[in-house]
Amino acid sequence: MDYNEFYKQSIDDPETFWGTQAKRIEWRTPHSRVLDYSKPPFSKWFVGGETNLCHNAIDRWVDKQGDQTALIAISTETPDAAPVEKTWSFRELQREVERTAAIMQSLGVGKGDMVLIYMPMIAEATFAMLACARIGAIHSVVFGGFAAHSLATRIDDAKPKLIVSADAGSRVGKVVPYKPLLDEAIRLASHKPAHVLLVDRHLSAMERVAGRDVDYAELRQKFMDAKVPVTWLPSDHISYILYTSGTTGKPKGVQRDVGGYTVALATSMDYIFCGKPGETYFCTSDIGWVVGHSYIVYGPLIAGMATILYEGVPVRPDASIWWQIVEKHKVSRMFSAPTAVRVLKKHPSELMRKHDLSSLKALYLAGEPLDEPTSDWIAGELGVPIIDNYWQTETGWPVLSIAKGVQDKPTRLGSPGVPMPGYKMKLLNESTGELCGDNEKGVLVIEGPLPPGCMQTVYGDDQRFVNTYWSNFSNEQVYSTFDWGIRDNDGYYFILGRTDDVINVAGHRLGTREIEESISSHPNVSEVAVVGVEDKLKGQVAVAFVVPKQAETAADPKARLALEAEVWGLVDKQLGAVARPARVHCVNLLPKTRSGKLLRRLIQAICEGRDPGDTTTIEDPTSLDQIRNALKG
Ligand code: PRX
Repeated sequence: MDYNEFYKQSIDDPETFWGTQAKRIEWRTPHSRVLDYSKPPFSKWFVGGETNLCHNAIDRWVDKQGDQTALIAISTETPDAAPVEKTWSFRELQREVERTAAIMQSLGVGKGDMVLIYMPMIAEATFAMLACARIGAIHSVVFGGFAAHSLATRIDDAKPKLIVSADAGSRVGKVVPYKPLLDEAIRLASHKPAHVLLVDRHLSAMERVAGRDVDYAELRQKFMDAKVPVTWLPSDHISYILYTSGTTGKPKGVQRDVGGYTVALATSMDYIFCGKPGETYFCTSDIGWVVGHSYIVYGPLIAGMATILYEGVPVRPDASIWWQIVEKHKVSRMFSAPTAVRVLKKHPSELMRKHDLSSLKALYLAGEPLDEPTSDWIAGELGVPIIDNYWQTETGWPVLSIAKGVQDKPTRLGSPGVPMPGYKMKLLNESTGELCGDNEKGVLVIEGPLPPGCMQTVYGDDQRFVNTYWSNFSNEQVYSTFDWGIRDNDGYYFILGRTDDVINVAGHRLGTREIEESISSHPNVSEVAVVGVEDKLKGQVAVAFVVPKQAETAADPKARLALEAEVWGLVDKQLGAVARPARVHCVNLLPKTRSGKLLRRLIQAICEGRDPGDTTTIEDPTSLDQIRNALKG
């Protein structure tokens, strides 16, 4: 089918388009209306319909293909890095999820209750997510790489009744204890969960809090034969929240529904990922990020595919481990991030070539800009299409890509592609709000209603949803992606970076404001600016400029290094090593406007060796020399 025509249908008549897509999934009660957009920008999809995410991911496949593999959990985080794997058929996965659901119910968790999941990449994490979905509890997965302070902020916002966690994770063969961080986070938070359910991997000794902490293995034994029927949920029931960074230091809980999300994932699995029941999907992301939610856990299972959950790094025991997995499990579709490919590119190609990768039909990459050398290299090595796709935590599934399942439209280097069904994209001039022409840079926005699967609101704060995303232009109410973009004459979009203070380190989205707030808590820091600076491997890294309270620190190289080390330690402890700046520079003054607004874009330009452009708004231009000197020093 001609893609343009297909896309146009989704925009001109969304109700017919999505009404048809809704038939891809199973409903307890069919919807009475496809869309309610009576209170823009809030959209309700499949009004009156009742369904369940876990039913569509597992139960519906049990009768059809119960003995086929559903989940393959592989870990190379073993003492000798030898992969250890365990698999579950759809039937076995159903039993396991029912056990976890029964455990949750025994701890008083039911429909609408919040469960925070702070877990390493182990199978129990997916059981917990699916168990929540089964009983209508809302999950909030917090990335295992975040430390106590980040976790505490999320505990206070989500107010979970239950937290599911583990003794430890492991990174490059080194045990990373979770429990002490969790205890510290609960101590810092005002909200206290009634229970903490702990998976003991016997990696690190745990102290347990009597009455609060309960053991997963013990309870599992008790509920071995539990049968927990699916709870049917209204389409707009909250399936989960997932925190993401923005312009302020306070992360936003992106809230998603049940019906719209299930339909959107089923649609994307067919049109974009071309996944077929019985095939195997391998997404290398982490369950703590949106890609893990949509394309490790829910998407592939909804499509009846086996999904691979991988705990480990791409280069241990050596850089062939992913290709070994692809060969062994005959992976047909793989999803990763450009940073991972850049890491692999540094290793000998023979490692890849010694494996039979003939099952692989395409590699999907997302989360950060895909540069041409990386894309060319991996395309040459694999000999399959490399499909860039652009989206956000907020959208839940690709906004721009190439829908090979509709038409084999060519990809274009440097562009994630064209708008996916239901996304009405525009580029607007940042200051006037006027529509940009072809090849003219603007802010990428989406006209409402957002298609199914996208965020419903900011959890607990409708006004913040409207203010943050829908109020950036005075002439019309549109959803801002906060990304710069450009569109060529043929309708392909190119993404040119964020318009706000969000940075992207190795595909991990971080808010510079959060990092600044953490650094500000150091006793010798009076002011700080954190910017994202281009990096060959990670795409971007965070770089901090601090004004020390003790002026002598800036003048003394030893004291500067000591401060840098202390700041690293502080950020590791509060936010986690993912947020640690690559460098911490000392200056006496930061570039600001006369009204005191930090000019991060100017600092970033200098760090990247670019001309900072218009500097007339700056209060004291010598502050820019300070940045330049600090970089030299
Ligand atoms: O700036 C864009 C960048 O990552 C942001 C969203 O990050 P996150 O919420 O973590 O969701 C990732 C889902 C894949 C976007 O605002 N980004 C994402 N994909 C691409 C991208 N930038 C360029 N090209 C992409 N394919």
